[in-house]
Amino acid sequence: MSSPAFRRNAFRALLTLHLIGLTLVIGVRFASFGIEHATSAGSLQFLSWGRELMGTLARSLTLPGFLLTIASGIGLVVVRYGKRVPRWVWAKVVLTTVGLVLAVKFVGPALEGARNWARWSAQHGQLAPQFADSLSQVSIYGSIVFALILLTIPVAVWKPVLSFGMHQNLTRKSGDTFT
Ligand code: HEM
Repeated sequence: MSSPAFRRNAFRALLTLHLIGLTLVIGVRFASFGIEHATSAGSLQFLSWGRELMGTLARSLTLPGFLLTIASGIGLVVVRYGKRVPRWVWAKVVLTTVGLVLAVKFVGPALEGARNWARWSAQHGQLAPQFADSLSQVSIYGSIVFALILLTIPVAVWKPVLSFGMHQNLTRKSGDTFT
């Protein structure tokens, strides 16, 4: 970890992973908008199929993508800043933690509920009244989590505004700038 060239390449590799994770989270969110739009006006079977697909995407792509973003973010901090963590990173940590807690406590169960009620509706040939409740929970908490994630992007991009000692960090002893 001591060679500047190694650290520079480790930083770039981690940043690539960070952005791939982010792309998965944001990409699946937009894909879900499309799936919802395409399946909510059709038959109950189609509605149920759409909810199953969104659930599968959330479990197989969104969650791993979010965890990859967090893990690579921690790696980026270690490689670039070590123990001198700038203030803007803490802002990201707070936003990400709140987002993760809301996603696990509210969005996940609401998605599960919407999926189960959509399946029940398809099996019984009538729309379950509980489906609308689950859907509004998904919509409220899902939007808050997505807004928190989007808010984290400008914090990362405009970091100098929130940081202290940033320029010393960017041009460490050897003058290497990583990016
Ligand atoms: C949903 C959560 C997150 C989002 C949306 C996000 C977004 C981004 C983006 C867009 C960049 C690229 C910025 C640039 O190159 O100018 C970035 C870089 C970075 N992120 Fe994140 N990030 C998230 C979570 C985290 C977490 C949890 C950490 C730390 C624990 C973290 C630490 C970093 C670091 C250290 C960089 C490199 C910034 C630099 O010094 O150039 N990120 N992040």
